Amino acid sequence: MNVAFDPGFAWGVATSAYQVEGATDADGRQESIWDAFTRVPGAIAAGQDGTTAADHYHRMAEDVAIMADLGVRYYRFSVSWPRAMHADGTLNTAGVGFYDRLVDTLLEAGITPWLTLYHWDLPTSLPGGWLNRDTARAMATYAVAVHGVLGDRVRTWTTVNEPWCSAVLGHGTGQHAPGHADPWEAFTATHHLLLAHGMTTRALREIDPDARLGLTLNFTPALPADPGNPADVDVASRIDATAHRMWLDPLFRGRYPDDVIRGAGRAWPADAVRDGDLPIIGTPVDLLGVNYYTTDSVRARLPGEAAPGPLSIRGRRIPSANLLAPDAVVVDRGLPRTAMGWEIDPTGLRDLLLRLHRGWTGPAGIPLFVTENGGAFPDHVADDAAVHDDDRIDYLRGHLAATREAIEEGADVRGYFLWSLVDNFEWAEGYARTFGLCRLDESGGRHLKDSARWYSSVCRSGGFEG
Ligand code: NOJ
Repeated sequence: MNVAFDPGFAWGVATSAYQVEGATDADGRQESIWDAFTRVPGAIAAGQDGTTAADHYHRMAEDVAIMADLGVRYYRFSVSWPRAMHADGTLNTAGVGFYDRLVDTLLEAGITPWLTLYHWDLPTSLPGGWLNRDTARAMATYAVAVHGVLGDRVRTWTTVNEPWCSAVLGHGTGQHAPGHADPWEAFTATHHLLLAHGMTTRALREIDPDARLGLTLNFTPALPADPGNPADVDVASRIDATAHRMWLDPLFRGRYPDDVIRGAGRAWPADAVRDGDLPIIGTPVDLLGVNYYTTDSVRARLPGEAAPGPLSIRGRRIPSANLLAPDAVVVDRGLPRTAMGWEIDPTGLRDLLLRLHRGWTGPAGIPLFVTENGGAFPDHVADDAAVHDDDRIDYLRGHLAATREAIEEGADVRGYFLWSLVDNFEWAEGYARTFGLCRLDESGGRHLKDSARWYSSVCRSGGFEG
């Protein structure tokens, strides 16, 4: 085995509540912003929603058995806030009971639970959502309530998953719930999501000093197409500012980057950022989760060149997700792509892990975990009813080898969570983009793809022949 990881390396798979659970009306669950958003015409491909999803709510025991059979050691799942809490801010014991059973079933199967508190399904009962500072406080209350039920068995708690998506896709471009497109909203939601992370971390630390606490950020590195061209270097840096440094700097350096505040100008929510907020956001964590799928090569738009598209998706106008770089043009490097259209670039993961370790987490002594990585592929069902997904296996090989290289070069990376256990609701893309190790058939049945068997051997042996 020549791509080998330490025996203690955490091998896992990841899902999130709204994407897999279904059962959106069960046991007093409240409405979430995704329930509401999926009803907006044109918001979701083929008008799909998470009402049934992968029916994990009813098939949980089967899913845990699949993980156990595969030899997966960690399960990263999210708790649905609208399921766990009533609209009056009290605990919904019936709703949280699902996670109570899930955790027990996992532990009986020898699988360690890794809990995410917020993976985008905000209750609509919270007035103003992430534009309202009170939502940050409400998240800490929710976390403490859930901890009261699960804290004796769940030892790793992460606060927010990919807050960039909630802030920028939810409030800056309108591709995600709640579907708004306003830069001021995107920056305001950014601050309140970070504050929610900080307040929740403080609250959990106080009641459970030994818990392992952290959060997960998403990273899409932007490389200047021509590193010798100052315009390309500048546009890449403006993308990096809001995609990455706007999150990392307040978390690990106690401040928002000057170029973000300057670049945002009147869209910067100076009133929302109050004295004392940054120390809360910077409350020490025990880990940083890294979600990585692709890297972009970018250049600046040339004078007179048309604005980069697409400007409209299913009849909805979509502004640039690069809040400070709407002039960025993504350059086709000719690399193979996944079904999401994302270029496959494992080297980008190695470089990212090293950059994070050297620039932010390493100096603070904080380990990294790859909390999501994986590929959507067309997944044809073969004559023998199997899915021979060599393309996904190649994707995984490349990214695991890149993770191993980053470790060899000094990055402190302690685990890898494959996205995802089973095909599921891929947000605005609906069910057409399949990331699972298991194919989901029309009646909800699970079928192991070849990649599941391959990943199983990696989990069991701690590596693979490269
Ligand atoms: C990141 C998100 O956390 C997850 O919900 C999503 O399905 C994957 N990326 C794939 O796009």
